[in-house]
Amino acid sequence: METHDHSSTQAYYDEFSKGYERRRGDNDPGGYHELVDDLQVDFASRYAAGGDLLEVGCGTGLLLRRFAQVTKSARGIDLSPGMLEKARARGLDVATGTATALPFPDASFDVTCSFKVLAHVPDIEGALAEMVRVTRPSGAVIADFYNPYSLRGLVKRFGPAGAISASTDESAVYTRFDSPFRVAKLLPPGWRISASRGVRIVTPAAFAFRVPWLRKALTLSEWALADSPLSIFGGFWLAAITRK
Ligand SMILES: C[S@@+](CC[C@H](N)C(=O)[O-])C[C@H]1O[C@@H](n2cnc3c(N)ncnc32)[C@H](O)[C@@H]1O
Repeated sequence: METHDHSSTQAYYDEFSKGYERRRGDNDPGGYHELVDDLQVDFASRYAAGGDLLEVGCGTGLLLRRFAQVTKSARGIDLSPGMLEKARARGLDVATGTATALPFPDASFDVTCSFKVLAHVPDIEGALAEMVRVTRPSGAVIADFYNPYSLRGLVKRFGPAGAISASTDESAVYTRFDSPFRVAKLLPPGWRISASRGVRIVTPAAFAFRVPWLRKALTLSEWALADSPLSIFGGFWLAAITRK
């Protein structure tokens, strides 16, 4: 159901790009967003090291710059010129494009990954089919999904929408939630989930990280639980998708 089209998503992220890194990356070392990024990069790096990588929805390049250090080549595409401007300023190889029509030939990459993006794509199955298409048969698609069966899912669905600027909040962007049990049904034929990780399992809200002792305890707990059976309660549920 397309309640938001590409142009409204693009406008939302162009607006978000102005303050996107306010509490991210080098602006908040050890903070909530860095923990999420660390867990995502760590999982994807198992597959990405030494290969050709594409990040779909690379945003300002916070993760792509880290992949670029361990891969043979690292490219990014994104819908939002505002986000891409910041990625380009980092010297990253990025282009404008949409997840549902990737501007690359079949089998171009060893790893095609996407973080905090597919939940904002109404045609998520189309996006996954495109990611699989541009990935080599021996490669992997790594993606995260917003899990309704999680503390984050509950807060996002039933709590107030977070502000992304003085004039816009999170309700302005299309967001979908797909449980770990549903994700397998979204994949194109011939591909399966071969590994997974839960990110943000016990953290109730990002602001908990503003309390120093809690920040430490939550960071340790999230790393300890990410690959445990409790991972199915991760707010961001990460999947490695490979050929059957
Ligand atoms: C929350 S940001 C995440 C950026 C980056 N992956 C990260 O983890 O920092 C989501 C990004 O997805 C992009 N995006 C949303 N829908 C998209 C689509 N259909 N195709 C490509 N990019 C999209 C947005 O423009 C935005 O830059």
